[in-house]
Amino acid sequence: MKPLLVGVVGCGYWGPILVRNFYENEAVELKYVCDLALDKLVKLHRRYPTIELTTQYKNLLSDPALDIIVIATPVHTHYELAKQALTANKHVLVEKPMCTTSKECRELIALAKAKGRILMVDHTFVYHGAVRRIKEEIERQELGELLYFDSVRINLGLFQSDINVVWDLAPHDLSIMDFLIGQTPQSVHATGTSHTDQKIEDIAYITLTFANNLIAHFHVSWLSPVKVRQILVGGTKKMIVYDDLQPMEKLRIYDKGITVEEPESDERRYQNLIQYRFGDMHAPVLDLNEALKIEVSHFVECVQTGRAPITDGEAGLRVVEILEAASASLATGQTQQMPCVGVFS
Ligand SMILES: NC(=O)c1ccc[n+]([C@@H]2O[C@H](COP(=O)([O-])OP(=O)(O)OC[C@H]3O[C@@H](n4cnc5c(N)ncnc54)[C@H](O)[C@@H]3O)[C@@H](O)[C@H]2O)c1
Repeated sequence: MKPLLVGVVGCGYWGPILVRNFYENEAVELKYVCDLALDKLVKLHRRYPTIELTTQYKNLLSDPALDIIVIATPVHTHYELAKQALTANKHVLVEKPMCTTSKECRELIALAKAKGRILMVDHTFVYHGAVRRIKEEIERQELGELLYFDSVRINLGLFQSDINVVWDLAPHDLSIMDFLIGQTPQSVHATGTSHTDQKIEDIAYITLTFANNLIAHFHVSWLSPVKVRQILVGGTKKMIVYDDLQPMEKLRIYDKGITVEEPESDERRYQNLIQYRFGDMHAPVLDLNEALKIEVSHFVECVQTGRAPITDGEAGLRVVEILEAASASLATGQTQQMPCVGVFS
């Protein structure tokens, strides 16, 4: 099969990692790397001397042979660059978060559909071996009924000037949750604060509620002395701890939990109704392939077959809807009710 021709736009921190993964994929040929900053291109040229360098995005758009455009520029540029790429009949992989508003996401989804192009969002963690393993455990009903999703993503982070910590860090955990839980929330509440004159929140706490008493909580911060990347998923049968900083046992599955017994008589005290279960813990062997490598293969396969990606535009939209609701909650102090609540496949 003829290799698919790819152009990557945006070569700051994340772009070069995408460049490496596309370069190494045998089904594609990386034709262009584009950035407004020439020094970023020169740096990449030393490692990939055969790729064409350009500061002009229009060169990618006007090349009829180019099949795919990968967008790794700042968030506020995603919509315009993706719109131009889809209009020029290119398949698009766009960074997270997909756009700055849900309206823009919907427009891109409609445009991709009208053009018959693949639109995928880089929700990298969805392709991580640990996250895929948690999904398998959930699908096999190993956890029982889901009770909670709890994540902490904190460190002494790079203070961004255009987005707050919610838009910077929470897309990772929201996309993981979206993939694992497969439901949209009923409500979103966020609190947070800024500790600089910029008035850009650097610490935030987001709580989502779902049907069936399921609750999710997200703690994101650029102002922590230690780095924590931890997710807990609790079910009625088992509970999982995913610690992304552990070199070996990133995932630990605990056969722990409670059962609540029916009271035999009115005299029985509440505490007696809770039975604790302390079973084994096991740490499964995970697929250690780089998440982005798996993601790039998946994207290429979707372009070749026309299959809808796992992290398609709809997944990008669901994450942005929650980010928007979190922003509204931060601004007003009010819990936001979500309009479309439900299960998706
Ligand atoms: N998936 C992940 O795990 C992950 C990790 C980090 C960043 N990201 C995302 O990647 C995107 C980029 O983040 P970053 O940290 O690499 O940012 P960055 O600021 O380091 O790099 C962005 C680059 O885009 C270039 N650029 C901006 N506008 C452009 C335009 N119109 N045409 C060409 N080049 C342009 C800039 O010159 C810069 O080199 C963001 O959306 C971010 O959320 C994703």
